Amino acid sequence: MKIGSLEVGKIGLGAWQAGGGAWRVDFAELKRAYEYALDHGIKFIDTAEVYGSGKSEEFVAELIRNRPHVVVATKVAGSNWGRILKSAERSRRRIGRVDLLQFHWPPPIYVPLCKVIRDLEKAAQLGLTAEIGVSNFDARLMEKALTCTKKYEIVSDQVVYNPLHRAAERLIEMGRARGFVVIAWSPLAKGAVLKENLGNDPARRFDSVVNRAKTAEGRRVAETIRKIAETRGVSPAAVVLAWHAAKGSFPIPGVKTLKQAQEVLEANALQLSEAEVRAIDKASAPFITGTVWPSAMRYIPGFLLKLSFTLARI
Ligand SMILES: NC(=O)c1ccc[n+]([C@@H]2O[C@H](COP(=O)([O-])OP(=O)(O)OC[C@H]3O[C@@H](n4cnc5c(N)ncnc54)[C@H](OP(=O)(O)O)[C@@H]3O)[C@@H](O)[C@H]2O)c1
Repeated sequence: MKIGSLEVGKIGLGAWQAGGGAWRVDFAELKRAYEYALDHGIKFIDTAEVYGSGKSEEFVAELIRNRPHVVVATKVAGSNWGRILKSAERSRRRIGRVDLLQFHWPPPIYVPLCKVIRDLEKAAQLGLTAEIGVSNFDARLMEKALTCTKKYEIVSDQVVYNPLHRAAERLIEMGRARGFVVIAWSPLAKGAVLKENLGNDPARRFDSVVNRAKTAEGRRVAETIRKIAETRGVSPAAVVLAWHAAKGSFPIPGVKTLKQAQEVLEANALQLSEAEVRAIDKASAPFITGTVWPSAMRYIPGFLLKLSFTLARI
């Protein structure tokens, strides 16, 4: 898969887990897991300035120091719409290199969207990033954002997408036609689509998608995935990530352990049959609803949204 000019492979990795606030992690094991993945076929890693207030970016900096083949993506906080260049400079200083600079969540309604996009373009012009992207933009907002560019293309939109939340499918189609890639966050539904016993990490507490796994429909999705995994002799995580590839999204799972990293990597060699993709699609059909980002959030002043994310320990 290519995101703009960047060759990124079939799956990437997300490094929110390394922020340390939202996820309970053993840092030595986490490092082992990410190093293993980047040395065994993963070419893309995603982070953000808000993850652990820069801790995740510092973790990524260490990981990529001797791995020039890895594409690095980070995100400017949506509440930093007035300080995009400053944020981009700070992230570049922390990480050492940024290949894809994304705007993390839609700005409040009173902020001119084209100013945000032009500031991302300025960051690219100044050499702070190779490519620009957005995150959590729904199809309507993306349509508008695409009209704002002057010199660069928006090459990606990073949104929630997994078998328990399929609202992004309209965006995937739009991306195919308009030349941007949908990067799928929470591609494993934070583990909820893989297993029953989940840790009570803060990241899961306010996530309604995690609760969908407990419904009859949700259990049917997990059961379908488990059966395919058993038949193929691979992990359920690999089946879900291979489903993403079949649907045309680029998944960036987070992992905590070496074993999870190894299971995620199995997806690189796995291609689901049309019948297997259809079976997961059918079981997860009740979840082709909702939106990738509630538009009401854009009416919340930026500082309040940032405060709520801070309290949720993002
Ligand atoms: N743009 C945005 O607004 C946004 C929002 C959220 C995330 N993201 C990005 O997307 C990345 C991934 O999303 P996410 O971390 O929310 O969710 P995810 O990738 O769907 O789930 C990650 C969690 O699933 C469990 N897991 C991973 N591999 C597993 C395996 N093989 N078997 C069983 N369980 C496994 C682990 O938790 P346990 O070990 O605790 O079970 C892990 O922490 C993040 O790291 C971040 O970079 C972006």
